[in-house]
Amino acid sequence: MAKLSMIWGLVLVVGATAWVANAQSSGLPQLDQNEWWGSQVLLKDSATLQSRKTIKPFHVTFSQEMIDYLKRRISNHRSYVPPLEGTAFEYGFNPDQIGTWADYWVNEYNFTTGESVLNQFPQYKTNVQGLDMHFIWVKPEVPDGVTSVPLLLLHGFPGSIREFFEAIPLLTTPTNGLVFEVIVPSLPGYGFSDGAVRPGMGPAQIAVILKNLMKKIGHQKFYIQGGDWGSVIGRAIATLYQDDVLGFHSTALTVFNSCAEILNLLGGYIATLQVEIHQYNRTALTNIAEETGYVHLQATKPDSVGISLSDSPIGLLTYVLEKFSTWTHPSNRLRQDGGLFNHFTREQMIDNLMIYWMTNSMTTAMRLYAEYFSRAHRGLGLDEHPTKVPVWNIKAPNDLFPQPLNKMKFLNVVGVTVLNDGGHFLALELPEAFAADVFKAVEAFKKFHANRRTDL
Ligand SMILES: *[C@@H]1O[C@H](CO)[C@@H](O)[C@H](O)[C@H]1NC(C)=O
Ligand SMILES: *[C@@H]1O[C@H](CO)[C@@H](O)[C@H](O)[C@H]1NC(C)=O
Repeated sequence: MAKLSMIWGLVLVVGATAWVANAQSSGLPQLDQNEWWGSQVLLKDSATLQSRKTIKPFHVTFSQEMIDYLKRRISNHRSYVPPLEGTAFEYGFNPDQIGTWADYWVNEYNFTTGESVLNQFPQYKTNVQGLDMHFIWVKPEVPDGVTSVPLLLLHGFPGSIREFFEAIPLLTTPTNGLVFEVIVPSLPGYGFSDGAVRPGMGPAQIAVILKNLMKKIGHQKFYIQGGDWGSVIGRAIATLYQDDVLGFHSTALTVFNSCAEILNLLGGYIATLQVEIHQYNRTALTNIAEETGYVHLQATKPDSVGISLSDSPIGLLTYVLEKFSTWTHPSNRLRQDGGLFNHFTREQMIDNLMIYWMTNSMTTAMRLYAEYFSRAHRGLGLDEHPTKVPVWNIKAPNDLFPQPLNKMKFLNVVGVTVLNDGGHFLALELPEAFAADVFKAVEAFKKFHANRRTDL
C-alpha cells in the first residue's frame, strides 16, 4: 500500500508539473492549414484533383452484388459459443441474441428502403486536403422573419451520420424565428469520407479539415453540435478557431488534459480502496473501467481489431450493438436482449451498420483512437488552452459515464440542460428533446453575442 501511495504521489507530482508547464506555454499549436492526408499520386495528378475538389452531389448505392455477398457472409456463420448460464449482456453481446439479428438483416431488413433512408437528404462529396469528404447539407426554406444559421453536426463512434436522421427534419423546420442550415459530415475515416493514408490525423487535424470544409461551402462562422468524437473534435475547432465558432452545444464538455487525468486516476484509486470486491456494484467509476476496454484496444491496435470486424458482419454487429446497448442505459447489461428495442428500431441499428460495412471503414474509424492518444497529438496540448466560445451542455443521465463540465476550459458556459432520460446516442434516441435543446442553446448563444456586440 505504501508503495502504491508513492507511485500515485509521483503520478500526481509529475502530472501537476506537466499541467502547469503546459498551461504556461503560450499560444495555440500551429497546425498546417493545408496538410495533405491523401495519396501522393492524387497530389501529382492535377486534373483528377481539380475534379475531386469540386462539390459534387453524392448518392448511396446498395449494389445487388454487395447485398448478395453480405447476406452470404451473414448466413455462413459458425455456431456461437453459448452464453454463460444466467447471463445477459454482462460479458458482452449475448450470443443467443445473434440469431434474430442475423435473420432480420438477411430476411427482413429492406435494402431498398435502407438505401433510400441513406439518400433522403441532399449529400455531397468534395476533396479537402487530399481526402474525399462526404457531407449531408440541408438548406432549409427560410420564410420572412426567420433567421437561418449554419450548424455543423458531428457524430461519434460507433455511430455515423445516421445518428442525426431523426433530428435533421426538426432542426431544419423554423421554430420561433430560427432555423438551421445543417452540415453533417461523415468524419474522415468514417463511412463515406476517406481516411488518412499516413499517421497523424487526430481530432486537431480533423478540426482543420472540417473548418476548411465549412469555409469551402461558404461558412466562415458557424455553430457546432457534437457528442462523443463530435465533442472532442468540436472542442478542438472551438479552441483553434475561437472567432469562427459562434457556439458549441454538446453532450460532453469534458476535457482530456493532465489535470483532468490526475483527477480520474485518483478517483479510480480511491474507488478501489473504498469498494471491496464482494461489494462490487456497478458504480460510475467501475463503469469506466468495465466499459472502456475498447478505447485501450482501439488506441493501441486498431488494425488488428478492425480486420476482424471488417471481415465479419456478425462480428461488426455484436461489437457495435453492445455499445448501443450499454451506453444507452447501464442496466441494459442485465436485459436478455440488451434493451436495444426500448430505445431504437432494428432498422436504425442496421442502417448504421450498413454504413460501416459497405464502406469497409471500421479500421479507419478505430484509428482515430490511436491518433488521439498518440504522443504527438497529446503534445499539442489543445485541451490545456481555454476557449471563449460560448457553450451549452446537455447531460443525459444514462450516458456511459458522468461527463463533468470543465469550466477552466470553457470560459463561457451559457447554459446546462439536465435531462431525466436518455443515454449516449441522444440525437438518435430522443430527437425531439435533442433538437429543442439545440434551438434553445443557439438562441442563448445569439443573445450572448448581442450583449457583447460580437457577431450575429
Ligand atoms: C421494400 O420497400 C419497398 C418500398 O420502399 C417496397 O416497394 C418493397 O416491396 C419492399 N420489399 C420487400 C421485400 O418488402
Ligand atoms: C447495486 O445494484 C443493484 C442493481 O443495479 C441495485 O438495485 C442496488 O440498489 C445497488 N446497490 C447499491 C448499494 O448501490
